[in-house]
Amino acid sequence: MCSYCGCESVTVIGRFMAEHEEVVNACGELRRSCGRRPTDVTRAADHLRALLRPHTDAEEMGLFAVLGQDPEFTEHVRTLCAEHAALDAALDRIAAGAHEEMSAFERALRRHIDREENGLFPAAAIRFAGPEWDLVVSMTPPASVP
Ligand SMILES: [Fe+2]
Ligand SMILES: [Fe+2]
Repeated sequence: MCSYCGCESVTVIGRFMAEHEEVVNACGELRRSCGRRPTDVTRAADHLRALLRPHTDAEEMGLFAVLGQDPEFTEHVRTLCAEHAALDAALDRIAAGAHEEMSAFERALRRHIDREENGLFPAAAIRFAGPEWDLVVSMTPPASVP
């Protein structure tokens, strides 16, 4: 959790950080479900997917789209988008039975979140003023309730 720049006070960043907590909790549920009945794994994977996909879509459609226009951040944003795709694919494989990937998936998810909360989000908070945030908010789909 970033606690040094006040970026959580910006509404959209606060939303994303709250969603990260939900995603991490759902990831823990998925880890615990591995080794139980296949239906438990399916349910936990569906729950995580229902949180993760709208979250990464919202990041990409708003904050990443605007920040990615800045050449200084284009590559960073591209890397984070590639990580979204890789996490999606790994989650699908785990849901299909590749439980041996669970540890690597959880580490990759936590590392990705850390790169956002302690990298991109504070950078955006420093770089953007009011008009940029208005644009980000206007481009970000509303939070969905799974
Ligand atoms: Fe992300
Ligand atoms: Fe995120």
